[in-house]
Parts: sequence; C-alpha cells; structure tokens
Amino acid sequence: IVDVALLPSAIKADQLAGQTVVVVDVLRATTTIVNALHNGCQQIFPQPGIEEARDCHAKMPDTSVIGGERNGKIVDGFHQGNSPLEYTAEAISGKSLILATTNGTVAMESCRAADRVLIGAMINVSAVAKELTSVPRVTVVCSGTDRLITSEDVIFAGLLTERILELREQAGAEPTKLTDPATIAMHHWRTRKAEMDSGMELADFFRNCRGGINLVRIGHDADVQFASQIDLHDRVPELDLKSWSIA
Ligand code: MLT
Repeated sequence: IVDVALLPSAIKADQLAGQTVVVVDVLRATTTIVNALHNGCQQIFPQPGIEEARDCHAKMPDTSVIGGERNGKIVDGFHQGNSPLEYTAEAISGKSLILATTNGTVAMESCRAADRVLIGAMINVSAVAKELTSVPRVTVVCSGTDRLITSEDVIFAGLLTERILELREQAGAEPTKLTDPATIAMHHWRTRKAEMDSGMELADFFRNCRGGINLVRIGHDADVQFASQIDLHDRVPELDLKSWSIA
C-alpha cells in the first residue's frame, strides 16, 4: 500500500505504526537536508522550534552550524538560513547542522510513531523510490505551507508513487494498492508531466504554488529552480528515531 498524508494533520492516530514514512518539504527543508548531506554534512538535528535549536547548538557549539528560517528568512543569531544553495561543501562539510524550519522540521515531529523515516525531495526522488521497492507499507507525509496543502509536496508524492509502481512492476511484484490521496497525488504529477512534455518547466509551476509564491516574493527564486531538479542526487537520508538525527 502507498498512502499520502497531504498535510501532517491528516495523519490519523496509530496510522504510522509499521509504516516507512517519507517526509517531504520540497520548498525547502528536505531539499536543503538532502543537499547538505550530499555536500559532506555529518548529521542533521531537526528541531521543532527556535529555542530547541539554540539549546541543541549550545551542547555542540564548536562542531555545529545552526540554520533555519522564519517567514523564509534567516533567524536572528543563526549562522545560515534554509536555502539549499547556502549549504555548500565549504559551509557544511564535516560539521553537524541543527535545523529549525516552519514546516519541514515540524512535520518530522508528526512521524515519531513510524518504523522508519526517510527524507525525500525532487532532487533525490528516484533514489527514495528504489529504497522503497520492496517495502510493503509506505506513507508520504507532505509538510505543506503554514498548515495548508501546497502543490509542490503533492507533486513529489505523486512522482514518488509513480516511480515505486514502475519499479515494483519491473520486479514482478503483486499490484500495489493506492489510497485516495496517493491516487490524487499521482494524477497531479501526471498533469505536470504532460505540461513538461509540452515545454513547461517544473520550476515555473512551483513558482505558482503556495510555497513558491512566498519564496519568489522574498528573492529566493534560485531556490525554487534548484528544488525543481529531478534526481540531482542519489542520497537517501534517514532519520534515526532514537537520536533524532538525520544522516
Ligand atoms: C519550512 O520547512 O518551513 C520551509 O522549508 C520554509 C522555507 O521555505 O524555508
């Protein structure tokens, strides 16, 4: 079964027990996480709030970078914001990252009951699908923007679902059941795919999604462009549920 929670608040009590969850916040938290790890970041500690992030940083001041945003902008006193482009090898290689964002790192808190939690974005979508080829129960958790559904996360969920179905079919597996939100997400992605076949860029669609509109308004168009790239990296970050860190 592949299920999609279009928002963290759509997760029902006990729904995640026995599930492998993929958390997504395309614009931008999970794109930033995948890119930072690709560029040599040792581990990432996602935080539910600013104060929790400051406390965590105080425990490892010399070896960690503290990053995150409020209203898309760097938080006062933090080293970095939440732009994937800021997390270059020079900035993050060999260091830990403590990250607090409005939606993405908060959505992760809703996934504590899952068996495994993977981190997905357009930039690693096929690698995540491969990891899930023989996993029986998958739930994609879309972070949304300010508690509302946002299309870029739903499109990721749809593309991931399509890739999982393709890989399972190639492997000769039993047909995979999709829940209603997973079917909706896949249709949403397939409409975009048809538009892309006629020359539209995915980034242009993202610029008009809830998360993209906010980012373009505050001058982060380059992040929208970066986050729209499919399969830039093949890393599949996983959240260790005991230490609450991603590597
Ligand atoms: C978040 O996690 O809240 C988002 O990534 C916000 C942002 O665009 O930085």
